[in-house]
Amino acid sequence: MHNTQLTFEPVISATGLFTPEDSITNEELVESFNAFVDRHNAENAAAIATGDVAELSHSSVEFIEKASGIKARHVMSKAAILDPGTMCPRLDERADDEISVMAEIGVIAAKQALERAGRAPEDVDAVLCAASNMQRAYPAMAIEVQQALGIDGFAFDMNVACSSATFGIQTAADYVRAGNAKSVLVVSPEITSGHLNWRDRDSHFIFGDVATAVLVEDKAIAPANRWDILGTKLKTVFSNNIRNNFGFLNRAHPDSASAPDKLFVQEGRKVFKEVVPMVAQMIIDEAERLEIDPTALRRMWLHQANAGMNRLIAQRVLGHEANADESPTVLDTYGNTSSAGSIIAFHKHSDDLVEDDTGLICSFGAGYSAGTVFVRKVA
Ligand code: COA
Repeated sequence: MHNTQLTFEPVISATGLFTPEDSITNEELVESFNAFVDRHNAENAAAIATGDVAELSHSSVEFIEKASGIKARHVMSKAAILDPGTMCPRLDERADDEISVMAEIGVIAAKQALERAGRAPEDVDAVLCAASNMQRAYPAMAIEVQQALGIDGFAFDMNVACSSATFGIQTAADYVRAGNAKSVLVVSPEITSGHLNWRDRDSHFIFGDVATAVLVEDKAIAPANRWDILGTKLKTVFSNNIRNNFGFLNRAHPDSASAPDKLFVQEGRKVFKEVVPMVAQMIIDEAERLEIDPTALRRMWLHQANAGMNRLIAQRVLGHEANADESPTVLDTYGNTSSAGSIIAFHKHSDDLVEDDTGLICSFGAGYSAGTVFVRKVA
């Protein structure tokens, strides 16, 4: 059939969320970390006395909550992470004929998004798996999700660290705008517990596991209850302040003791200082381009990395200290879930908005990378 439709307008039809059952509180985390520290210091007492090995310090529940706003995080492999002799997730490798863990949790989130949109998988044209780490190089996790759902079309993985989901939304929106797809699933399974160095006091509390899904569609086929996408903007600026050197050219197992640079490493203070002004200005400039008054935004679903960062960004954009209704947090219970954070906030805190309410989904993180998605409720 010849397609006579001339303009295509991308909207968000629905979102989905998978949350692992297990969660680690700060108290549990610090107890395990401090047991590891005591063991390390006892085993290395002689070398510490001669200055050949550094003495490690205890972590603290109070510091974690005050510095980050995080109180707990969901994880896929709680026991291994909390075992002071292991301190990393242990997820069994799966056979080639079994679905990967990332695809499995992505499918759960995707099914929920499809259900909420009233969309059958056979009506979806493309799947993007947008996440900050990929379980393997190929075949793509996105193609596994496509296969598991029975989608006829194309799928690929993309990685833009903490901004993967917003970059995925713009990519999906561009496929819709160009007429190349009418319905695109953007799935973000973030098993960030695998890239976190659980033995590093400065960052061991940061991350948690989750999967989100966003269904981006052409307005012509979207449900009545949806979010129009008013505009998307992406930005990258090179920075070494958040880094992970793990890759296929250095295949040594990323053991945190011998190769800490093969896991997540950051200069947290520098990130804080450089990213806050960059992102606040980007939001204000993009709002101006879209002729939106940023101070009148009904809600901001910000990237969930640090409560203090979000407080400052929201204040610069709104012109006043944001309350929990204007800038909701999921950081307290989910921790930093990389690219999924702003999508979890949107998923959990958007049902109460009414026709014409305007909001912003915004991500920022390693690269540096940042993305804005301005949306308006249609009910
Ligand atoms: N428990 C107790 N004390 C700790 C600690 C822990 N787990 N980790 C660090 N400290 C101590 C430090 O040793 C330091 O002590 P000192 O002042 O005696 O030297 C002090 O607390 C401050 O450490 P610092 O690392 O400067 O903390 P911070 O206030 O900058 O908070 C972050 C750390 C990581 C929470 C914060 O910088 C941050 O969130 N930055 C942005 C992170 C981000 O968005 N990253 C993007 C990832 S995608």
